[in-house]
Amino acid sequence: MKKNLLKIAALAMVSALAVSSLAGCGAGDDASNTASKGTLTMATNAEFPPFEYLEGEEIVGADVDMAKAVAEYLGYELEITNIDFDAALTGAQTGKYDMAVAGITANEERRQNMNFSNDYFKASQSIIVNADSEIKAAADLEGKTVSCQEGTTGEQYLLDNGYQIQSFKTGSEAITALTTGKVDAVVIDNAVAKALSAEQNGKTVVLDEALTQESYAIAMKLGNDELTEEINKALAALKEDGTLAQIFEKYELTVDAE
Ligand code: ARG
Repeated sequence: MKKNLLKIAALAMVSALAVSSLAGCGAGDDASNTASKGTLTMATNAEFPPFEYLEGEEIVGADVDMAKAVAEYLGYELEITNIDFDAALTGAQTGKYDMAVAGITANEERRQNMNFSNDYFKASQSIIVNADSEIKAAADLEGKTVSCQEGTTGEQYLLDNGYQIQSFKTGSEAITALTTGKVDAVVIDNAVAKALSAEQNGKTVVLDEALTQESYAIAMKLGNDELTEEINKALAALKEDGTLAQIFEKYELTVDAE
């Protein structure tokens, strides 16, 4: 709708220019809402509800809605590719994709190898256990086997703390390992833990303990400061006008007050 208004404004400008000389002023300065500048390619791993997951063939979720809003704001077409999480990270790092949007935690280690947008969501790692488990807190994980998703900060946390781990390509495989008794717990991002656990119909529970403090951001190739700036501009505008809050609300995600 805004686009139409701008078109009308632009037309009005053109007619104004015909009568007087208004060169250099007005609507053209606004980087947003211009006609499509091309395609913004995005890699994700649609195994991470409610941020990105498959609904039939379609990739949906809060990250997807956010990326669509960012692309629209900047005047790009968005092209999403669904791949393994570690491949999405590498894909952004090498520039194979313009960006990776996948609930990616921006941490110091990754910042060595890629650009990150400003943070858009606060998260932590949570523990999922079977409903009848004796594990009630992180302290009870001592000597237990824990599953996680490969290449994630959850895996890194478990390795750093010396746990025995089983890594899977997807969070749902990690949870199947739990419900089938192959592991004692799963460690995964908090909101995703809730979503995946909810699919188990009461067989599993998420413990009320935050193991880490993390922030999600959009990953891009190291040194791609131009796109990083554009994306930051879009994120700020979408935050300001309430679009981001609306998206998170739609997926029942609570954004911490800052
Ligand atoms: N936040 C975690 C990380 O950055 C997990 C992200 C997993 N995302 C996904 N779409 N599978 O390592």
